[in-house]
Amino acid sequence: MKIHKTEKIFNFPKKIIIENAFDPYHVENVHKNTIKKCDVITQSENLSLLLYEVYVFPKFKFLRGITQKFLIIKEMQGDSCVQFISIPLKLKFVSKFIIDVEELSKNETKYKATFFFQPFTYINRVFSSLILKLRNIGEEQRLKEDENLMNLRYQSLLNNFVDKPKCINKKMLIDEWFRTK
Ligand SMILES: [Fe+2]
Repeated sequence: MKIHKTEKIFNFPKKIIIENAFDPYHVENVHKNTIKKCDVITQSENLSLLLYEVYVFPKFKFLRGITQKFLIIKEMQGDSCVQFISIPLKLKFVSKFIIDVEELSKNETKYKATFFFQPFTYINRVFSSLILKLRNIGEEQRLKEDENLMNLRYQSLLNNFVDKPKCINKKMLIDEWFRTK
């Protein structure tokens, strides 16, 4: 099992991070450079089943035809944790990603993300460092994109704007996000 940890301090309340982590509707738009598609198969208040189609080599435009599909089980655990279990449809490994947040003060939150990678076959074990590296490059980019979106969500909250997943779906927030990018 390989483990990768990320820690960061964000200048907004923890509920913004949890809301963003659990929201699947921004994924296709905001993370379009690394994720081709995000289908919501089913969703309840704290559990969702998603199908991601991810670019394997997002940095290389000519390799954008190479994608992998992942079944994602996403669960909101209380008000401080979101857990993702990711199962590739064609590869023999499984991964878990846990986002934990800790409120340090009113507008200061510690973000702790831990990624667990478990290969099932010899060949996946051999390539696990490369798979993890590709995943970490994509995740670093997605965190930057999420930070911009979370700032926007926070501004919306401060201005009493109702920020619902539907807003993301209708591209209202997304369009605004692209203008600020
Ligand atoms: Fe995101």
